[in-house]
Parts: sequence; structure tokens; C-alpha cells
Amino acid sequence: MKTAYLKFDSNRTVSKINKEIYGHFSEHLGRCIYNGIYVGKDSSIPNVDGIRTDVVEALKEIEIPVLRWPGGCFADEYHWKNGIGKARTPMLNSNWGGLVESNDFGTHEFFELCNMLGCEPYLAGNMGSGTVQELSEWLEYITYGGDSPLALERKANGREQPWKLKYLGIGNETWGCGGNMKPEAYVDEYRKYQTFAKNYCNGDMVKIACGPNSDDYNWTEVLMQNLNEWHTGAITLHYYTVPTGDWSHKGAALSFSDEEYYQTISSTLYMDEIITKHSAIMDKYDPDCKIKLVVDEWGCWYDVEEGTNPGFLYQQNTMRDAIVAAINLNIFNSHSKRVSMANLAQVMNVLQATLISDGERLVKTPTWYVFKMFLPHHDAELIKTSLAAPELEQYGKAMPMLSHSLSKKDGKLYLTVSNCSLDEDCTLLLDAECGRITCAKSQIITAPIHDYNDFDGKVNVSISDYDGFEQADDKLMLNVPAHSVVSLCFENQ
Ligand code: AHR
Repeated sequence: MKTAYLKFDSNRTVSKINKEIYGHFSEHLGRCIYNGIYVGKDSSIPNVDGIRTDVVEALKEIEIPVLRWPGGCFADEYHWKNGIGKARTPMLNSNWGGLVESNDFGTHEFFELCNMLGCEPYLAGNMGSGTVQELSEWLEYITYGGDSPLALERKANGREQPWKLKYLGIGNETWGCGGNMKPEAYVDEYRKYQTFAKNYCNGDMVKIACGPNSDDYNWTEVLMQNLNEWHTGAITLHYYTVPTGDWSHKGAALSFSDEEYYQTISSTLYMDEIITKHSAIMDKYDPDCKIKLVVDEWGCWYDVEEGTNPGFLYQQNTMRDAIVAAINLNIFNSHSKRVSMANLAQVMNVLQATLISDGERLVKTPTWYVFKMFLPHHDAELIKTSLAAPELEQYGKAMPMLSHSLSKKDGKLYLTVSNCSLDEDCTLLLDAECGRITCAKSQIITAPIHDYNDFDGKVNVSISDYDGFEQADDKLMLNVPAHSVVSLCFENQ
């Protein structure tokens, strides 16, 4: 049994953990939108205006704060006018599966979905194959309250009031599928697009520039040299966990060796290093953190399940994914001074999804349970901690055994901690520098590492109450079992 020590002063807060760190991403990809969230009004699956009722309920349970749409790579081929009104114009989804889509799910349906979920919409604007005019007209259509031609068209299509739009992304992966641009070229395009990206409804729309791919630090440097908070509320970062690190053979979702498991953890932990380094560049130009970092695509990306369309990116989700989700969310919390939003890729049936469906059957994945467990961190204050924890050495890679974050809200403290070891428990001694730790309550997610929730109705990975802690004078000893995610709610008096 290993031992770790966590010290903190519960009065030393660092930053607010913006609840939008717990955001999601929905792309026209595979069965995320069509045959996923959106089944159509005539479906036998219970729905409201075509939107699956059980999906809405499951996402409300994890208090989804923000939803990004319509892509991803798809966004840079999406022309919004084809997706409004009675007669929709179908389109080819050339990025994902080469299918022709009906465009039945468009702007109105997306805003209705966000309304049902009670979450903020985050639109990804088309810079790749669109125009400045097309994007500025979309904003007029959505946000103009008076009688402009496009506002009248919206009203004629059944929506009298303008919608509120808080987040607008300008281009997606413009270094890749969004146009293969150099950062200097993108910056010039961005400055032009954002000039005409007017929000008529409320003044506080956050314009989000396309930031770096993974560890492309030069991209961040060029953006920060050329943009300022007048143009830009945030820049994005995309980083996926690819177990083998080889995009042509990423590794399977369900059958993986111990070595592949630890590679997955090590690849996930790299998120901390890249956020730290991008933040250091941003600090040089923007020490007050006015421009935020939005990690609007993250999660595990495995080889697609055999027998499924390779362009649909469908994969199962095991206890390993729960550990990956916990590590990433703890990292985002810890960087919440700079990181204001993150969006798991993707919300349903694609990559590290929170929900998967097979016809009318809907499964909450282990990742969904992690989002549920981390709810008390939403809009809480991050507490500064000092952790002395064992390092693991696995298959030539060194990694910390524990990942954690601690926050405070309404007088209560909330710790989430995960142990990535496959076979060793760890005792964590919690030491509040002032006062006593009292009233502790704990929960756990743990299961054999290959376990998952399938369509047979058995829930193999979920949250249980946990009593693996004991008071030790003013301190508390918490047992964090091998491959588990544990939460602890307590008071410090
Ligand atoms: O999430 C799947 C794809 O990954 C997105 O479309 C793209 O932005 C990224 O490369």
C-alpha cells in the first residue's frame, strides 16, 4: 500500500472553476445527431420535435452547461441556410462517412435542444468553405430582434424572438481540415471575420479563435502576438488521447493490454504539460488572463468498433475511460484560471461519448458517471493544494499515481481523486492547515478495468457510496483503490 499526502488551506482559493469546463460537443458525425440526439418527429422512440427525450433527461442529469455544434470538420462545410425553413436542402457529409444528410436538424432544432437542456449554445462558424457574409448573416438571423430581412425570415420560420448566443467559434482546426492555413494567414482571416461577427441580441458574445493542435506552441505565439481581448475572448486547444500515439493504429476500445492502458494514461497526462506551456505563452502577452483557453475537443480516440462505419467513429467506453475523464477534468480544474471551457468529444455515439444508443436502448457510459460525480465542482472556487504522491514507473514511462482537484462552494469542500495504478491502492492523508476536517461523505467509481456498460441492461460501472475513509485526529485518511475515481465532500472547521 502506497501513501500520499495532501495539504491545503481552505481559505486559499485560486480561481473559479467555470462550469463550462464540463461542456460537450455534438457534430454531424456518425450517430451523434441523426439516429442519436435527433430521431425525427415520426420516430417510435419518445421524442419532442424529433429530439430524444431520454437523451435530454440524461444530459440534464449531468447539468450540461454548454454544447458546441455543428462540428468539428463538418462545421467548415456547413451552410446554415440549407438547414432552415420547411424545404431543407440535403448535403454531402464528405468528412464523416460520405453520407447525404437531410439537413432536418438545423439552427432552429439546435437552439431548441439547448433550450430543453438549459445550456448555452456554442456555434462553430464556417471559415473554411464559407464567407464573411454567410457568417455575419447567420448572426443576424439568430440574434437580430427587429425587422431586418433575415430576422423576418426567422420569424416566418416560427421563431419570433431572437436567440441569445454566448459563444461563437470562428473556424475549426484551421491548421488542418478547416483550411490547412499557416497561423499568420489564419490570424488575418480571423481579424476580418470577427469584425463582421456582430451580435445584435446581447453584448457579451465571446468570440473564440481557432487555437493550436496539441503542442503546436508557435500557433499560440502567433495568435497571441496578433490578437487582443478586443478581438478575442478565447482561443481553442484540441488534444486527443490516442493510446499508441499512432493514428493509423490507435488501439482498441475494449481489448487492451496493461501496457496500452498505461500508454493511455501517460498520453492523457500530456494534457497538463501542453496546457501549462500554452498558458505560459499566453501569460507573456496577457498576464491578466483576459483571453481564455477553451479545450473544445478532448477525449480518447480508439480504432472504430469492428463492423461499424469507419467514418462514424463509434467506440465503447470502459473503466479506463472513466480514469481518463477524471484525469482530464482534474487538469482543467487545476488550470481554471486560464481554461474557461472544455468540450468532451463527443456527447453521444462518437469517440469518448457520455451516452451510446442502439435503437431505442440508451446506455450511460462510465464517462457519464464521472461527469455526474464532478458536478459539485461546477462554478466552485479552486483551492490551492500541495500533493506529495508516489510516482509509478510503467513500461518505461513515469507518471503520478494520483490526479486530484479540490474546490469549495457554499462552505463545503469537494475533492476528486483518481488512482491510475492497475494493482496498488493508495492511502491519502488529508491535512487541512487550519482546523479540523469533519462531516466527510464519499463516493467511488471502480470496476475491473475492461468493464463497460452494454445494452444488456447491466450497469457494471457506476457511482456507489464509499466508506473507505477514517478520521485521524484533525486529519482524514482516504483509501483510493487501484483504478478508481473517488470523491470526498467535507467541511473544514
Ligand atoms: O471529433 C472528431 C473530429 O476531430 C472533429 O471533427 C475535428 O475537429 C477533429 O479533428
